[in-house]
Amino acid sequence: MFGKRTAPLSVVPSSAPPPKPAETKPALHAVPSPAPESKDKSPAKAEAKPAAAKKAGLEERLEEIKGKVFADLIETVDLGELSKMSMQAVREELSDIISEIMSMRNFSLSAAEQESVITEICNDVLGLGPLEPLIARDDIADIMVNGANKVYIETGGKIELTDIKFRDNTQLMNICQRIVQAVGRRVDESSPICDARLLDGSRVNVIAPPLAIDGPTLTIRKFKKEKLTLDKLVSFGAITPRGAKLLQVIGAARINLIISGGTGSGKTTLLNCMTNYIDKDERVITCEDAAELQLQQPHVVRLETRPPNLEGIGQVTMRDLVKNCLRMRPERIIVGEVRGPEAFDLLQAMNTGHDGSMGTIHANNPREAVSRIENMIAMGGFTLPAKTVREQIVGAVHVVIQAARLRDGSRKITHVTEIVGMEGEVVTLQDLLVYEILGEDKNGKIQGRHKPTGIRPSFWDKAKYYGLESTLAEALNEGA
Ligand SMILES: Nc1ncnc2c1ncn2[C@@H]1O[C@H](COP(=O)(O)OP(=O)(O)OP(=O)(O)O)[C@@H](O)[C@H]1O
Ligand SMILES: [Mg+2]
Repeated sequence: MFGKRTAPLSVVPSSAPPPKPAETKPALHAVPSPAPESKDKSPAKAEAKPAAAKKAGLEERLEEIKGKVFADLIETVDLGELSKMSMQAVREELSDIISEIMSMRNFSLSAAEQESVITEICNDVLGLGPLEPLIARDDIADIMVNGANKVYIETGGKIELTDIKFRDNTQLMNICQRIVQAVGRRVDESSPICDARLLDGSRVNVIAPPLAIDGPTLTIRKFKKEKLTLDKLVSFGAITPRGAKLLQVIGAARINLIISGGTGSGKTTLLNCMTNYIDKDERVITCEDAAELQLQQPHVVRLETRPPNLEGIGQVTMRDLVKNCLRMRPERIIVGEVRGPEAFDLLQAMNTGHDGSMGTIHANNPREAVSRIENMIAMGGFTLPAKTVREQIVGAVHVVIQAARLRDGSRKITHVTEIVGMEGEVVTLQDLLVYEILGEDKNGKIQGRHKPTGIRPSFWDKAKYYGLESTLAEALNEGA
């Protein structure tokens, strides 16, 4: 059957040097002789079983077929060469080969079953295997793989276990490897931690055994195709329309801003929304560990940190990036996540005429955000008196916006807080808008309201300077 092909199904591009015969895997030569399936798996026999058992039997049979076809495929095709072809071309080529293997092995499958085997194998060879259907969904925020048998997802702010499983940890590890290789990194026993990014921009973290005790652990923060805007956050109830106006003024009037929040509370999303209000003429430089921000302005320079290579050299830290930014004539500097001594450099930037700089920080409330910055500066080995550091913070950061994921899974902006000054050694904060929890409805959904405090912000004059006085008045005066 395979011999009938006029052109070989070779996946080696014609420009590649001709490989030596002994090393070559001819396109389709090594398919083992057809082994008819064992009789006791016939559909007739299965029919006698109860429906559930029958379904399980069918699934088992499909799995077995998939395993055999996969083994033949590995024998047949030089998978390394596939990476040089376009995704679509590879998929078509593989589909042809897999169909041929199946008919040669006499696997009697319905058209739908055959299609499912082809799709799964293509996903396995080219994509993220069993994770592909999850990657295709846009309602998932996070995919969390804890070893081969446990795949969790987060949708609507809630985490749930899926029934997706990998064949084994080797398959999972191969997929992790493929993901990180795509960005020129490697993950194995000697370097078991790795950050990467999927082609669609999703942020990925892999931690492998022996550090991860129960098998390779993969965490994916899915990239949302549909970009969230402040209007959308309003429609989700994360903030009121008036609150959104306040944020808009903060973004446009070049107020130095820290967005604070817990893991997955929506900090990066909010930062992204805020950047929409940056003027098109401003030169913006972003520094991130894994590029997630999607600024729409024309004049943006995007920088990304780099981990050390296998010899332990070549690392470029966030601090290096932020320091370098200052020599790049930035008008605003945006730090995806401030988590270490770069806090000091960001404060310096904010204090030295780069108004409107922004960053996110892991903290549970605005006051904690201030002490986190203080701690980060101390961790960086700067031996400045606490009061001096606090004065620096007060001089640099104008506003802290707090994001939170509440216990019902909803994400809210819970505080818009100004840093106004010092009283003795204590930093004084002033809330402009707070979210008040009033109770819970019968479905466990939290009921609450955003309440402006009615305080006139100290950045009023700045807003006026940018022609935003009336917007600010509207945002603050007319209630929630
Ligand atoms: N207000 C919101 N309503 C609904 N979903 C939201 C909201 N804000 C963010 N999300 C979604 O929540 C997920 C996490 O958001 P995001 O990446 O912004 O969180 P984060 O705080 O930056 O997380 P991390 O701490 O991991 O960096 C994303 O899928 C995002 O689309
Ligand atoms: Mg983030």
